[in-house]
Amino acid sequence: MFVAIENNKIVGTISFQGNKIKNLFTFPAKQRKGIGTKLLQKIEPIIKKRFKKIVVYSSLDAVPFYKKMNFESKKKIIKKIDSTGIRQILMEKNLQKINKKNLGNLPKAENFESMI
Ligand SMILES: CC(C)(COP(=O)(O)OP(=O)(O)OC[C@H]1O[C@@H](n2cnc3c(N)ncnc32)[C@H](O)[C@@H]1OP(=O)(O)O)[C@@H](O)C(=O)NCCC(=O)NCCS
Repeated sequence: MFVAIENNKIVGTISFQGNKIKNLFTFPAKQRKGIGTKLLQKIEPIIKKRFKKIVVYSSLDAVPFYKKMNFESKKKIIKKIDSTGIRQILMEKNLQKINKKNLGNLPKAENFESMI
């Protein structure tokens, strides 16, 4: 597990099992300050060494966060707990996909020769 610490206090947590994200939480008063992003960025390179994709059973509330992090929704799931159920969305991010946003400044193919 990794924790985010601010002024000696834990303000966020993340853990993972295989390629599955577990326990990603940012303390409510500290949300929308980039902590969740940093926690995810911490584990992605570790998972990428062994897996082609990263998966999470997301709470409905966290779906916009994961979408922003380039995850795609794959399946709606209702997890049975007693007689009730918790709705989750299985989301995945392909760790091998080239992020086109980062390719913006690359030279065009015809210019490659002059660069060699
Ligand atoms: C999901 C969670 C971990 C996000 O953590 P965070 O530290 O707030 O995330 P960030 O600040 O890094 O957010 C990055 C971007 O994701 C998007 N985002 C995050 N939370 C969002 C929300 N509630 N609604 C819409 N977009 C959201 C935004 O685009 C945000 O960037 P912006 O603030 O510049 O617009 C946090 O909301 C949380 O702990 N939620 C409760 C527990 C939970 O549902 N955990 C997930 C279990 S699967």
